[in-house]
Amino acid sequence: MKFFIDTANLKDIQEAVELGVLDGVTTNPSLMAKEGIKGTDAVMAHYRQICEIVDGDVSAEVIAVDFDGMVTEGEALAELHPNIVVKVPMTRDGVKAIKYFSEKGIKTNCTLVFTAGQALLAAKAGATYVSPFVGRLDDIGHDGVQLIEQIVQIFSNYGYPTQVLAASVRHVPHLIQCAEIGADVVTCPLNVITGLLNHPLTDKGLAQFLADHKKVNA
Ligand code: E4P
Repeated sequence: MKFFIDTANLKDIQEAVELGVLDGVTTNPSLMAKEGIKGTDAVMAHYRQICEIVDGDVSAEVIAVDFDGMVTEGEALAELHPNIVVKVPMTRDGVKAIKYFSEKGIKTNCTLVFTAGQALLAAKAGATYVSPFVGRLDDIGHDGVQLIEQIVQIFSNYGYPTQVLAASVRHVPHLIQCAEIGADVVTCPLNVITGLLNHPLTDKGLAQFLADHKKVNA
C-alpha cells in the first residue's frame, strides 16, 4: 500500500520523507491557498519544490473547468517534473481531458469521485489514479470506506490498471479500513501517518524496559 501525504506544507512533507514511509503527495487548490501560495508562478515554483523533496508522484490540480483549459494547464504542469500527476475533477470535460492525457502518456488523478460509476468512467478514460473522498462521504452520513471497497472490487473484476487512491482520509481507523479492503493508496495529513506510531502499551513497555535496564546496569 502506498502512503501519500495530503498537504502543500513543505515542512510536513519533509517530516514524512524523513520517517521513510512516503510514496507521494496530493495537493488541491484549498491546500495551496492554506499555505498562502498565490499566482501561477508561485504555484508552479511550489510544485517544483515539492517534487525536489519527495521521490514519488505529486498530484497538481488544474483550475480550468473546460477541456481546452484543462489541457493547457495540465500540459504545463506535466512539464514541470516527471513525477507530476495532473489532477482533474470528475466532470464531463474532466473525463475527456483524462482520456487526452492518458493517450499522451501524462499521468492523471481523477478527483472528487463520490460514486462507483464515476470511478468506472475515470478508469475507462485511462486515469492513473481515482480519488474517492472517504471523509466527505462520511460527513454527509454515507459510508466512504464502503465506496472504496466497491471500486476495488470493480477494478479487480476487469483488471483495470487504475489505482484506487483513498482520499479525504481523516483518521487512523479510516486508513486501516482502507488497507484491509485493498486500496492501492491512501492520502492523508501528517498526523494520520504519525498516528500509526501510537499505542500506550508501547510507551509503557518501553519505559519499563529502560527502567529495568537502568537497575541492572546501575
Ligand atoms: C484529495 O486529494 C483531497 O486533497 C483531500 O483528500 C480532501 O480531503 P478533505 O476532505 O479532508 O479536505
